Amino acid sequence: MLQVENVHLSFKKKGTFWRAGYKPILKGVTFHMRQGECLGLIGASGSGKSTLGRVITGTLRPQRGLARLMGEDIYHMDTAGLFGRGRARTGLGGVVSIVFQDYNTSVNPRFPVRDILAEPLRGTKLAGDVSYLKALLAQVRLPGDYLGRKSFELSGGELQRVCIARALAAKPALVLLDEAVSSLDVSVQFQVLELLKTLKEQSGLSYLFISHDLAAVTHLCDRILFFNDGRVVEQVDSLADLVNVKDCYSRQLIAAVLA
Ligand SMILES: Nc1ncnc2c1ncn2[C@@H]1O[C@H](COP(=O)(O)OP(=O)(O)O)[C@@H](O)[C@H]1O
Ligand SMILES: [Mg+2]
Repeated sequence: MLQVENVHLSFKKKGTFWRAGYKPILKGVTFHMRQGECLGLIGASGSGKSTLGRVITGTLRPQRGLARLMGEDIYHMDTAGLFGRGRARTGLGGVVSIVFQDYNTSVNPRFPVRDILAEPLRGTKLAGDVSYLKALLAQVRLPGDYLGRKSFELSGGELQRVCIARALAAKPALVLLDEAVSSLDVSVQFQVLELLKTLKEQSGLSYLFISHDLAAVTHLCDRILFFNDGRVVEQVDSLADLVNVKDCYSRQLIAAVLA
């Protein structure tokens, strides 16, 4: 369903205009993802994971390479470009949605939960369908009367669950979770990971789970990509193969978790 081939992306350094003024961030990223799988992308902070996420959600055009979603080139689709908070590109029928680490800034604090959930549904009948919005809350184990609450009346874990419900609202094929549990307490992290697991089993969702935390990745994912300095440096197709990892950087990550 998702095909990323040799993607290169550089950011322009401030105040420069020569080629030397570009800082390469993605240096030839290649991977594939199947429908219904949970693929973990793990790497140190600053290695370019979120930048890759922005390429996949269609908000950042790479200088070179190819990104295809459901067989369609993301950067030739007429809707490529901006998308709302946590929302897939309009016109794509919500193919990709995204859950960010920072749940506080990814919602409008003046909005009640009802409006947060309805954001990706704008312009459709479902946006005003209270029973649909309540069903979304039920999916993430929150009571229906939370529809009237504001974000500051929720705990971190509850608000992140609202963000997950919002990501599911438009029935995406792919949910990109960018450090989605990293800001939560360890016990709440566990609950949210379990919830994500259940949702995936129930609805056949595909997840791209971006994280710097190997424990969280192994808890949820079927397959793992190790990412370092703008490249996929190792791919592990089953958790049992973690012991056979050859790449030096990836081994260090694994050793740090097992220690
Ligand atoms: N819009 C931008 N302009 C310039 N540099 C950026 C921009 N966005 C990210 N970067 C840089 O790209 C690098 C990778 O960032 P990021 O993809 O957020 O890494 P990660 O998610 O793995 O922590 C960092 O050095 C960051 O400073
Ligand atoms: Mg990041």
